[in-house]
Amino acid sequence: MRRRLRFIFRGRTVELDGFDPTLTLLEWLREEQRATGTKEGCNEGDCGACTVVLARLREGRVRYEPVNACILLLGQIDGAEVLTVEDLSAGGSLHPIQQAMIAHHGAQCGFCTPGIVMSLFAAYHEAERPLTRAAFDDILSGNLCRCTGYRPIADAAMEALHGPAADAFAADAEQRRARLDALQEGSDLFIGHEARFFAAPASIESMATLALRHPDATLLSGGTDVGLWITKRLQDLGKIIWLGRVKGLDRITATDTTLTLGAGVTHERALAPLAALDPDLGLLMRRFGSKQVRASGTVGGNIANGSPIGDLAPALIALGASVEMRKGGLTRTMPLENFFLAYGRQAREPGEVVTALHIPKLKPGMAFRAFKISKRFDEDISAVMGAFRFRIEDGAIAEARLAYGGMAGIPARARATEQALEGVSLADPHGWAAALSHLEADFQPISDMRASAAYRAKVARAILGKALLEIAGGAAETRIHPREVVHAG
Ligand SMILES: Cc1cc2nc3c(=O)[nH]c(=O)nc-3n(C[C@H](O)[C@H](O)[C@H](O)COP(=O)(O)OP(=O)(O)OC[C@H]3O[C@@H](n4cnc5c(N)ncnc54)[C@H](O)[C@@H]3O)c2cc1C
Ligand code: FES
Ligand code: FES
Repeated sequence: MRRRLRFIFRGRTVELDGFDPTLTLLEWLREEQRATGTKEGCNEGDCGACTVVLARLREGRVRYEPVNACILLLGQIDGAEVLTVEDLSAGGSLHPIQQAMIAHHGAQCGFCTPGIVMSLFAAYHEAERPLTRAAFDDILSGNLCRCTGYRPIADAAMEALHGPAADAFAADAEQRRARLDALQEGSDLFIGHEARFFAAPASIESMATLALRHPDATLLSGGTDVGLWITKRLQDLGKIIWLGRVKGLDRITATDTTLTLGAGVTHERALAPLAALDPDLGLLMRRFGSKQVRASGTVGGNIANGSPIGDLAPALIALGASVEMRKGGLTRTMPLENFFLAYGRQAREPGEVVTALHIPKLKPGMAFRAFKISKRFDEDISAVMGAFRFRIEDGAIAEARLAYGGMAGIPARARATEQALEGVSLADPHGWAAALSHLEADFQPISDMRASAAYRAKVARAILGKALLEIAGGAAETRIHPREVVHAG
């Protein structure tokens, strides 16, 4: 058992044994290290002012991941190197990103610029070349500017991300890899005491044992929900079990028929395998939060949070996915749709941990569509999310699985509409229209700040009609963004 947190900061290995389990990385940086280059804006993962980069070893390679320090707990940086805006210049010279930002007048206000520089720095090492404008939009999806706009920043990025990375970090890559490698080890981490702790088990077995011993502990994956309970709801979480070090929990495996995502797979890593199942899943994941949210947030957290407006649940329910859970020594699997019982209530017992999602691949004769409806393209929670899988036989709908988010207290299937669509010909738009009216029996949506009930009902019907129109092969234009495979990067 290890009793000290270990990470690299300013080129040195830091070891900490006494810190509050709810301390955020941003608080530690600004208040304890006086590293005030990193700013606090919204304190809820939206604005990007607090963006720092974590260098982590992934499959033996150093990866540079932009994260929101405001909602990341300090304990979550175990085994990583923290890089802030103060770390980029080398030998008295600014980093190529910083130079380009100055040259193109991209350095605008002092709140956003450090975070923007850090997002671009991560992309400097990770983004595919040549940089496209769409890729730039993704890179800055988690950095909001409300003053001057993005054009000068885009110009700076286009210039700096022209060729391969050639900075002090690229030159130092092997030493950085070796330093990070020296931090990796397989023992459980436990800091604090039985009544108040930050724990990071290293194996599935020790995770299951710890969760059973402390069923009242908060399970923490990426913290993109839990972090806000601390910074916005001001909850005092006394016991935290972080799942980010559990070996095997972030595994991605595939057979001919099934894709399995470990609960700890981040949205960024899930993007490519999901996009390979269907282009709409890639588009959905591209619009999931921002780069920063996708770098931390996990697929397990998105299901376990039980949110009626989470994006993955409807998509995976439509695909017929199942969720795997572990309690003590017992593992069980259930259809994902049965996991959501009622608003705020899931079929997960105290001390039980979500370990994986098993997602059936589409079979020949099947068609899939998913549409996220939100006010903004990036970094916005859905007002309505619809995902639909159809099995087509002889030009007619033999089976429909229709799942919606935002239409009820839980993500749910539209069973009356599913039945009404069975047997309807794809060549019979009047038949679809009659079937679609059953959505009124399936859902009685509510009005809230994201959308009115009337809007939700209307849009739920419209996106299902759009899916049928596309699958039937109509000539009408249905999309602004083409249905093409989105690549991670
Ligand atoms: C700026 C911003 C944008 C966002 N955009 C989107 C979006 O576009 N779409 C969307 O759906 N969501 C969005 N979210 C919400 C959030 O990012 C996702 O729900 C994310 O998947 C949560 O995963 P996490 O790993 O961060 O979970 P955490 O915050 O670590 O945990 C979430 C919940 O799940 C529990 N939990 C976590 N892992 C497990 C496990 N393995 N077993 C059992 N319980 C577990 C935790 O105890 C907690 O209750 C956004 C959040 C922010 C801050
Ligand atoms: S302060 Fe706004 S994202 Fe962290
Ligand atoms: S750069 Fe800060 S609001 Fe525009």
